[in-house]
Amino acid sequence: MKVDVLLGLQWGDEGKGKVVDVLTPDYDVIARFQGGPNAGHTLEFDGIKHVLHTIPSGIFHSNKTNVVGNGVVIDPIIFMKEIVALEAMNVNINERMVISRKAHLILPTHRLLDAASEQAKGKKKIGSTLKGIGPTYMDKTGRNGLRIGDIESDNFQERYDALKSKHLQLLAQYDFEFDLTEMEAEWMKCIEKFKGFKLVDSEHLINAQRRAGKKILAEGAQGTLLDIDFGSYPFVTSSNTITAGACTGLGVAPNQIGEVYGIFKAYCTRVGSGPFPTELDGEVGERMRKAGHEFGATTGRPRRCGWIDIPALKYACMINGVTQLIMTKADVLSEFEHIKVCTAYEYLGEKIDYLPFDVVGSELTPVYEELEGWSEDLTGLGSIDEIPSTLQAYIDYLERILETPITIVSVGPDRNQTLMRESTWVIA
Ligand code: GDP
Ligand code: IMO
Ligand code: MG
Repeated sequence: MKVDVLLGLQWGDEGKGKVVDVLTPDYDVIARFQGGPNAGHTLEFDGIKHVLHTIPSGIFHSNKTNVVGNGVVIDPIIFMKEIVALEAMNVNINERMVISRKAHLILPTHRLLDAASEQAKGKKKIGSTLKGIGPTYMDKTGRNGLRIGDIESDNFQERYDALKSKHLQLLAQYDFEFDLTEMEAEWMKCIEKFKGFKLVDSEHLINAQRRAGKKILAEGAQGTLLDIDFGSYPFVTSSNTITAGACTGLGVAPNQIGEVYGIFKAYCTRVGSGPFPTELDGEVGERMRKAGHEFGATTGRPRRCGWIDIPALKYACMINGVTQLIMTKADVLSEFEHIKVCTAYEYLGEKIDYLPFDVVGSELTPVYEELEGWSEDLTGLGSIDEIPSTLQAYIDYLERILETPITIVSVGPDRNQTLMRESTWVIA
């Protein structure tokens, strides 16, 4: 079996956690391939909300293997907090989860470096989640990093001390105060606990499962517009959030990728700094934030809100090779009588339908089309056949313009608020 991938097409928070949980019954293995505790994936069922940061969103289902892949970066302190919360829900972690020995460790000093770097940037800050993501991936590519597998080696402490002292030298260059003692002690305690988890060479496990005909779903974190290569650089994260990232982050060959589920909100949000062409600053944006409860799952920061951006979505579909689209939060747009769709930008006096290179340094003015909205409450709908005709028209419009079928429509945060759809879309 080929490996299917589910990933975000916007700036993250598209609802990946919820939909992965919904799809998990169809799969044997759920594998995270990049990112780390900067992610916040929310799942809701039986009236309880769960937020996962590093652990794959298949963890609530029994008889499934959840893989934390080599492309992920792990903060042992945050990871252990997730484990404690899961154990309180009677989830047997070692029955359901394995961790790649090749996944990199986030050190306490990585977090400090992230904070010091952001503080030094002042107004130009990325708006990082301050989880140490950038500095950890820098050490990975700089070939200085520590990996989960290193925990098992005799000289782990020595290697930790060497990397820490490098970091302390770097930190001395910043005007930044810190006290490492408590965080370091906690970190070391959590590291010890990792020895009790199943640490594996996950690339072998994934490929063996694949060859045995098992179904594997790779779960992305962040979104395509935060990708280190193709996002709005430098206002991005430090990993490849795209389909190619699933290959490098799990050890899956490109010709073994199957379906690519691209997930997007029926509108747009962004948390942190950086360009956002369709952002709504005023009252309309505030209404959207309120209706969609748009506050970060990891940092609690208010998310910036705006209308859907078609040139950006088309770009994301192209980069990822999306084969099926999933639209979330359709219920939030019930708030609006009319819905705007950005179909192009005005840029340097011209109308363009693509993201220009200098998306950071330039003003892009969105060109909108307006569609009829729907005012019906969608959150109680039991089947796609019950949706209002104007929502049907919105779906048809998006399929046509994005040239990709929409096969799932999400109408609420709960597992059950998910409408499966057989698309009749065909290339004209
Ligand atoms: P992720 O990072 O992509 O997993 O998304 P987040 O969990 O950060 O953010 C998505 C938020 O929207 C969470 O609070 C979800 O519970 C919620 N959510 C997901 N799908 C829907 C939906 O269709 N409608 C509504 N109203 N909320 C949703
Ligand atoms: P999920 O998986 C939304 C954003 C941060 C910041 C930028 C860089 O929940 O969709 P980093 O901490 O990676 O150095 O931050 O990326 N960011 C996210 N925004 N959802 C996420 O993950 C994000 N992970 C990082 O806000 O702008
Ligand atoms: Mg999130």
